[in-house]
Amino acid sequence: MSDPLASPLRLPCGVVLANRLCKAAMTEGHGDSRLRANARHERLYRAWSEGGAGLLITGNVMIDRKVIERPGNVAIDASHPPSVDGDARAALARWAKAGSVAGNPLWMQLSHAGRQSPRYATRQPVGPSAVKLDLLGNYARPRALREDEIVALVKRFAQAAVVARDTGFGGVQVHGAHGYLLSSFLSPATNLRTDAWGGSLENRARFLLETVRAVRRAVGGDFPVSVKLNSEDFRKGGFNSEDCLAVVRLLNAERVDLLEISGGTYEQPQLLGMSGRAADAMPVRASTHAREAYFLEYAEAIRQVARMPMMVTGGFRTRAGMEAALAAGDTDMIGIARPFCTDPDCARRLLAGEIEAMPAYEKSLVLRPRGWLSPTSPLLLAKVVNVLGAQGWYYQQLDRLADGRPPAIDRGLLHAFARYWWNDLNKAARLRR
Ligand SMILES: Cc1cc2nc3c(=O)[nH]c(=O)nc-3n(C[C@H](O)[C@H](O)[C@H](O)COP(=O)(O)O)c2cc1C
Repeated sequence: MSDPLASPLRLPCGVVLANRLCKAAMTEGHGDSRLRANARHERLYRAWSEGGAGLLITGNVMIDRKVIERPGNVAIDASHPPSVDGDARAALARWAKAGSVAGNPLWMQLSHAGRQSPRYATRQPVGPSAVKLDLLGNYARPRALREDEIVALVKRFAQAAVVARDTGFGGVQVHGAHGYLLSSFLSPATNLRTDAWGGSLENRARFLLETVRAVRRAVGGDFPVSVKLNSEDFRKGGFNSEDCLAVVRLLNAERVDLLEISGGTYEQPQLLGMSGRAADAMPVRASTHAREAYFLEYAEAIRQVARMPMMVTGGFRTRAGMEAALAAGDTDMIGIARPFCTDPDCARRLLAGEIEAMPAYEKSLVLRPRGWLSPTSPLLLAKVVNVLGAQGWYYQQLDRLADGRPPAIDRGLLHAFARYWWNDLNKAARLRR
């Protein structure tokens, strides 16, 4: 019997992916002080390319160098010539080449941080409206974008996509999830606009739709264009599952090659399988616990309306879980992120039958499983330490892979939390913008 995980997938644009495993986007934090790619990206992505996944997607590459997700991002900002000049392009080309050395495509994730840009990275975040992200004072109130700025940003996404194509990346993904700029426009909780870019679902989705259309027009019909979208934001009054289905119907007309389903925002980090601020969190449905991939129940409904291939990301770890999702027709690709931080070879090993499950450390990366110091504690500080500590732990592993060193599994959560801040603040101090 043929192995469903090893079967190729033909995308609408004609490109064929060799197998069903994708290394989903993970922000690397390896950009230099000018937000450029370098040898660390090359080393990390060469290891991942040789690791057997049919598709690799980069972490956030920012299209606006003034509003970034973290220091250490790479930016392709067409309004700033040095970020698209010969040296910057040569570094991108080396990154693209290293990341596709085994014949797999490497897609670039194009992103704008919007209101989720920390104070130490950005003085003035922007968003659809001036709705502040309230997380221990780390985020300044965003300024509402003017319409001419929105139109300029649509163009910048398209310009960055062309740079990605011309430097050898095999496709692009428009980041429309996780509360970043495009996602914040989709959400009625953060988009309070009364012009053509807010209000009705069609208006809230306009920025994403215009961006996807502009990107497609710019790169041509035979180049893969993907969209990452939230199944929902998991906050009252936010982007919900009905909105998601409506956006997918709109995207059906846009020649999208792969729709990736995720969920949550910085306020509700469901993308990592955790709930954030319990105060306004939705209850977790019982069936969500039954399946390792936590957005699968949403995927079932999305599948009914989506006409493009789909990828579900979040929680997939076992061969049995992945095969069941493919067999049920809930997804065409299996998106996986964290296991690649500690075992860059995990896709190849799973496909070869050497392992039945990918490494999973997330359950042990908590201060305490229960009580006041747990990730579900009513204490916001405890939640933040748990979420950022775990995130920092994965960042540390990415740093080590990029330096050609083995992962350090034994590092503790508090150590990782401290290093997270130390590294990000140091990098922020050295930014040359
Ligand atoms: C260290 C780290 C960095 C991440 N960076 C990004 C990113 O840049 N863009 C993105 O869309 N998602 C990002 N994510 C989310 C992952 O793509 C993925 O949705 C999430 O980790 C759930 O998948 P998993 O359970 O297989 O890890 C990141 C996750 C981690 C752990």
